[in-house]
Amino acid sequence: SMFQEVSGLRTKEKKLAEILGIKKVIIVPGDINVDANTQMLIGKEASEYLTTIADKDFTVAITGGSTVAALKNFMSPSKSLSTLTFVAARGSLGNEMSLQANTLVSKFASKCGADFRTLYLPEKLSETAFMTMIQEPVVKEVLDFYDHIDIVIHGIGTSKEMAHRRDSSEAIIKMLDEKKAVGEAFGYYFDEAGEIIYRINTIGIQLQQVKKSPHIIAVAGGSLKAKAIQAYFKKEPAHQTILITDEGAANAILEK
Ligand code: F6P
Repeated sequence: SMFQEVSGLRTKEKKLAEILGIKKVIIVPGDINVDANTQMLIGKEASEYLTTIADKDFTVAITGGSTVAALKNFMSPSKSLSTLTFVAARGSLGNEMSLQANTLVSKFASKCGADFRTLYLPEKLSETAFMTMIQEPVVKEVLDFYDHIDIVIHGIGTSKEMAHRRDSSEAIIKMLDEKKAVGEAFGYYFDEAGEIIYRINTIGIQLQQVKKSPHIIAVAGGSLKAKAIQAYFKKEPAHQTILITDEGAANAILEK
């Protein structure tokens, strides 16, 4: 029955939150890797959750990615959302404009009647360029935001997909392979044990700053992302995280 299905999901949500060591899990029915529309359900849940926790003048850091992008279809200028400031969690990717954090913050802001801050810098920077850039006032203003972000909304991806999307060099792909990278979030690549094995030299929010934020909403689904999701939460997970995922990913983790 419908009731059994729903109460079955609720039991799985509790179990998964326990396994991952986080505050809460919301599982939507389906599997993104089977039915792409499932991503919209994740976006809807995430957007509703954001509305319940958003408070006046909160700052919200968001990453790029298609799952985070899915929130925008369900946003409207409600009382709590219109006073937010959406801040791009990272510099731009250089490709796929529509999925970049910079693009998403402006879309989210216009949907909610809110404010936004972008960070227009290439993702791959030399050490010297990097050190110079972070001193620039326009960059520094956004970087200072990262120290007091009220809500973080982020995606989690597989290392393969992300290395591919970023057009990474053969050498980097080989290194990620050798070090057995499985997942990626915020520009950090990690292995199954959750160890960070590589990090893109970029300007963006640091994991330490993410962990200091009182609210974290992670959005990632699909059976193919199960390993990446589990790996991301393996080592010192941010306990305040709410993961919004689908049955595809949830079942694959629970059945292991
Ligand atoms: O590039 C931004 C990002 O959030 C990555 O950190 C993450 O791995 C990826 O997007 C997730 O993208 P998607 O939701 O499209 O799978």
